[in-house]
Amino acid sequence: MVTPSDGARPAAAGRAPSGQGGPGQRHAAGDGRAGGAPLLRLRGLGKRFGPVQALSGVDLDVPAGQVTALVGDNGAGKTTLIKCVAGIWEPSEGEIIWKGHPVHVRTPRDASALGIATVYQDLALCDNLDIVQNMMLGHEPRKFGLLDEVAMELTARRTLADLAVTTVRSVRQTVGSLSGGQRQSVAVARAGMQEAQLVIMDEPTAALGVSQTELVLALITRLAQRGHAVIVISHNLNDVFRVADRIAVLYLGRLVADGPAAEFDRQSVVDIMTTGTSLRRGSGASSREGALPAAPDTGWEV
Ligand SMILES: Nc1ncnc2c1ncn2[C@@H]1O[C@H](COP(=O)(O)OP(=O)(O)OP(=O)(O)O)[C@@H](O)[C@H]1O
Ligand SMILES: [Mg+2]
Repeated sequence: MVTPSDGARPAAAGRAPSGQGGPGQRHAAGDGRAGGAPLLRLRGLGKRFGPVQALSGVDLDVPAGQVTALVGDNGAGKTTLIKCVAGIWEPSEGEIIWKGHPVHVRTPRDASALGIATVYQDLALCDNLDIVQNMMLGHEPRKFGLLDEVAMELTARRTLADLAVTTVRSVRQTVGSLSGGQRQSVAVARAGMQEAQLVIMDEPTAALGVSQTELVLALITRLAQRGHAVIVISHNLNDVFRVADRIAVLYLGRLVADGPAAEFDRQSVVDIMTTGTSLRRGSGASSREGALPAAPDTGWEV
């Protein structure tokens, strides 16, 4: 089990699993760690869709100022888990604990009010609006009852500059005219701007090219450095080892392993994703191996 102190401590400096070449980013704690506890804790979280038990008994701690990568094979329950946190699905059982207090997140609005923002691939932005309008959507400042366009543009510019998003030529460009990486950067910056203390991203780099992926990975790292808790779902283990401080592995709806990224290597992550267990794991990472059925070899690239 990951204990509260384990989940909350700043990870050891210089993580660089042999051969991974990861940057070993260590992030300062944000102010979301109430009394050193993780910002978000899931306890016994379960979700059933009729006969399908998509998630069961998930215990997970998500600390502020760190990137938690959520990995697992297709159908493992990753999207279901984040949808429970984002207020899309109500869990069938278990608790969501936010800053030490149990909460009910019944709608995306509830999640947003708590400070939880979710970035879904391709669904995050309105193509026909410009970058400023997209970033401020639903949070527009007003002056004398009118939209304060100047303040909106300044806020959007400042946020993009803070996060070093430098590749967009004009904040008045429509989002439909941006590249995939630029779109995703705007979506992530938008989430970071809306005082979200937890930013969740489902496959943020899927379908992006190499340089666009770099842009988004750098942004994810900067969000964590600024104190946000970040949960990233990714199938790409290169990306995972580039940005993750912690790795959590789902297998057939159960969380079978989680711990500091330094305590995994690619092979162990692949083993756990495909069989629910690994003999190659470092001793420090938490393991929840039970009598799990062996899965067929799904040919994960290592
Ligand atoms: N709305 C739904 N109704 C019924 N079953 C669902 C629903 N959403 C998900 N499931 C089931 O729950 C399980 C977990 O699905 P989920 O989408 O969370 O997996 P995932 O880990 O995100 O997979 P992928 O990597 O393919 O995106 C699957 O067996 C899926 O068929
Ligand atoms: Mg999914």
